[in-house]
Amino acid sequence: MSRIYFDNAATTQLDPEVFDAMVPYLKEHYGNPSSIHSFGRQTRAAIEKARRQVATLLNCAPGELVFTSGGTEADNMVLHCAVRDLGVKHIITSPVEHHAIELTAHEVGKLGQAQIHWVKLDECGRPDMAHLEELLKAHSNALVSLMHANNELGTRIDLQAIGSLCRKHGALFHSDTVQTMAHYTFDLSVLPIDFLSASAHKFHGPKGIGFLYMRNSATLKPMILGGSQERNMRAGTENLAGIVGLAKAMEIAHRDMAEHQRDIGALKEHMKKRLTAEIPGVSFNGDSGPNSLYTVLSVNFPDDGKSEMLLYNLDIEGIASSGGSACSSGSNKGSHVMAALYPDQTGANIRFSFGRFNTKEEVEHTVAALKRIFQLVAA
Ligand SMILES: Cc1ncc(COP(=O)(O)O)c(C=O)c1O
Repeated sequence: MSRIYFDNAATTQLDPEVFDAMVPYLKEHYGNPSSIHSFGRQTRAAIEKARRQVATLLNCAPGELVFTSGGTEADNMVLHCAVRDLGVKHIITSPVEHHAIELTAHEVGKLGQAQIHWVKLDECGRPDMAHLEELLKAHSNALVSLMHANNELGTRIDLQAIGSLCRKHGALFHSDTVQTMAHYTFDLSVLPIDFLSASAHKFHGPKGIGFLYMRNSATLKPMILGGSQERNMRAGTENLAGIVGLAKAMEIAHRDMAEHQRDIGALKEHMKKRLTAEIPGVSFNGDSGPNSLYTVLSVNFPDDGKSEMLLYNLDIEGIASSGGSACSSGSNKGSHVMAALYPDQTGANIRFSFGRFNTKEEVEHTVAALKRIFQLVAA
């Protein structure tokens, strides 16, 4: 069998349909979208069309979307600019956020621009709602930033419930939806949320392009200064082909979403069942049940001396997955997520993340490889 890619939460393969949509904007349509001549007008029109396409899928106004270089930039912009532009004095977030939020929150706190509060979590990484409400009651001028689904665990939170709580206490609400955008639908006309971050390479779009949604009532000023691109909200000549590719990838994902949710969810479930049946002592981190992100399965393998090199042994078998361990032994850098939730955990954690190009045969092949690695069958 050729190599197996079970690392779709890290990035996804570019969809050939997306590539085809991008090619004209890498070849014949090269005008600078800020130029007033016909070359520029043509590419400007493509960008605004892409923005309208994305806005239609999210049920928001096109002007509420700013294209960025990806999820990291969008996350950084929300925290830095909400403090600077919207009078935010308290940021309430969690220790299992992606580093793009977690490290930015630490930085904002260190600079004395806002106080940072870390909400308590349950054993799956979901926020403790009573503690969140306590924090919201105690601190006005707050911004809550909690990711929709955790990239390491697959635990997914209830945006409606958290957003409603934020509204009740007059707090702004941001969610990093990098792992869930285009994997679920979002109706921003009703969802009580002020900011969302997204990144195209997580849904079969190109790398280096994403967007920040900001509700009209919570408009930020630019973090990157220079030209007047993106209606003065993000300077720099636009990533034209990237923007066109992002919109195309969003469209495809929404068109085929029900089928992807069903098929990819079934693969994850199959992997869970097969691992439980074949590898004694496996367990699953975070929430791996029906409400979890259907693309991610975080597995803890028993500490029996063979798990230490697991990620590498899987790679040798041609299987790409990702690590994440509370300990920082070997060359595996410890995961802040696992350290926060499972400080006493032993064994190795492997994240398998699935996409629409994966198959049941690949799951079977991986389970068989794991049985060889754990010497449950003759090699
Ligand atoms: C939850 C989450 N947020 C943010 C990012 C960063 O996105 P980007 O790679 O587009 O900068 C990632 C990427 O791994 C992610 O999983």
